[in-house]
Amino acid sequence: MPALPRHVAIIMDGNGRWAEARGLPRIKGHRSGAESVRAVTRHAARRGLEQLTLFAFSTENWKRPAREVTYLWRLLRRYLIEERGEMMENGIRLDAIGRIDGIPRYVQDALAETKAITAGNRKMTLCLALNYGGRVELVDAARRLAADAVAGRIAPDAIDEAALEARLYQPAAPPLDLLVRTAGEQRVSNFLLWQLSYAELCTVDTAWPDFREDELDAVLAEYGTRERRFGGLVRK
Ligand code: FPP
Repeated sequence: MPALPRHVAIIMDGNGRWAEARGLPRIKGHRSGAESVRAVTRHAARRGLEQLTLFAFSTENWKRPAREVTYLWRLLRRYLIEERGEMMENGIRLDAIGRIDGIPRYVQDALAETKAITAGNRKMTLCLALNYGGRVELVDAARRLAADAVAGRIAPDAIDEAALEARLYQPAAPPLDLLVRTAGEQRVSNFLLWQLSYAELCTVDTAWPDFREDELDAVLAEYGTRERRFGGLVRK
């Protein structure tokens, strides 16, 4: 059996272009993208992934028109509430990374509640990156390290990779194995900068609203063909 990644992250790109190509407003692309989130999450859990991390809202997405930003947050809130039953049925635990205190209160509340309801689930973690930026995550980790150093909890000389990693948003996450980006772009776009160090990259032309079970299976199969050496000579 080809190797299955433990942790897959996805940059869900192309919602706007998908809608525009159909003469629809961009928000219809996001709505259909939420259906892909539903289908791909369920399928990922059934395939046996330990974690699926989805880039749902970046620190840069605030630059979009206010109407689109508001639509995205309302869509997220609805998803967080409507998917509780599905998450419970499929053993999915919800988590989130990002500057959560900067997202609308009504989304924070729905998020906290869904996290609490699903906290005991063990099959797969669905982690939503919300108001997330890879550089900001590193800044936040640096601030925590500095605070701990000033308080005498860690000596500057004792700061190593493990010390920084322990102060990321989700220190206990399984190592990131695979980053997928949809809609043809070949960019990292400030996503999971620390975690990407040894991850495999896979870009597909399919726009996110068309990325469903078969497309996930295809990137998992592609991952299974990769030879991972982690800087050494040993094959996986
Ligand atoms: C990129 O498409 C997508 C986003 C900025 C938002 C992702 C949101 C969703 C998939 C829907 C809601 C999410 C959840 C978790 C329910 P784009 O608008 O940048 O597309 P474009 O590059 O074609 O314009």
